[in-house]
Amino acid sequence: MAEKTNLLNHSKKMLEQNQVHIWRVNIDNPTLNLDDLFSDVLSDDERKRVDRLKSEKDKRRFIVSRGLLRENLGNYIGTEPSDITFTYNKYGKPDLKPEHNQGNIKFNVSHSANLAIYAISQNREVGIDLEYIREVRTADKIIKRFFTQQETDFYYSQPEDKKKLAFFTLWTRKEAYSKARGMGIGLPSKEFDLNLAPTTVISTTDMKTESKWSLVDIEIDEDYLAALATEGKDIEICRFEFKTL
Ligand SMILES: CC(C)(COP(=O)(O)OP(=O)(O)OC[C@H]1O[C@@H](n2cnc3c(N)ncnc32)[C@H](O)[C@@H]1OP(=O)(O)O)[C@@H](O)C(=O)NCCC(=O)NCCS
Repeated sequence: MAEKTNLLNHSKKMLEQNQVHIWRVNIDNPTLNLDDLFSDVLSDDERKRVDRLKSEKDKRRFIVSRGLLRENLGNYIGTEPSDITFTYNKYGKPDLKPEHNQGNIKFNVSHSANLAIYAISQNREVGIDLEYIREVRTADKIIKRFFTQQETDFYYSQPEDKKKLAFFTLWTRKEAYSKARGMGIGLPSKEFDLNLAPTTVISTTDMKTESKWSLVDIEIDEDYLAALATEGKDIEICRFEFKTL
């Protein structure tokens, strides 16, 4: 195989036990060499997934998001990006194969429009969700289906010009928590309430249980909202940006 180019202009980062590292990457960056990522970094099943995607834009975004995730994780676990093996739980959440992951590194990924973000932690589950803020014509239906009464009341109490922001704030928090639990849509989203307390998750089926999860909003820019859910308290969040060579 041809010698690999390190596409990332960052040094190895030390991950402390209490930290969650958040990486942000522009997946539409035109300077990235997609052919190298596709042929040298992705696995066979990932290449097949690319082939199944219809639009060129989706193909490009998956190649970059997954390729740079491999590059990034490789730096944490000391493995060549192409040698990383992912396992998937029954809801599709990817994890590192335990044999290659003695430090028990955990991660989660989200992408929306032209950004991807990765959350990386050690010995604690993480879930992250990123959303490009946009009009959602079906907001009322989604709220009815997924939001608790308290969340619904909060949303409808907002002035018209704040509703979009309220919707995506609740949505990203709920998604991040569902993703941290590894269940995605498998987790009944009305059984937990994330309303105005962004640092805790409250089970609506047992309001007295103290949550072991932390939930924080992650500032991106005015066009995006993001939230992180992770096990444990007193978490330090460290933020990094991918810079390509
Ligand atoms: C996959 C899912 C978990 C997230 O989808 P999404 O928001 O469209 O996409 P995101 O970009 O945020 O996340 C996709 C990434 O999450 C990861 N992922 C996939 N399944 C996952 C799961 N069950 N749990 C956690 N992470 C998962 C993958 O890395 C995927 O990236 P990939 O495309 O590179 O493989 C989605 O299917 C889902 O179930 N969402 C929850 C819906 C829900 O119940 N919402 C209620 C809140 S209101």
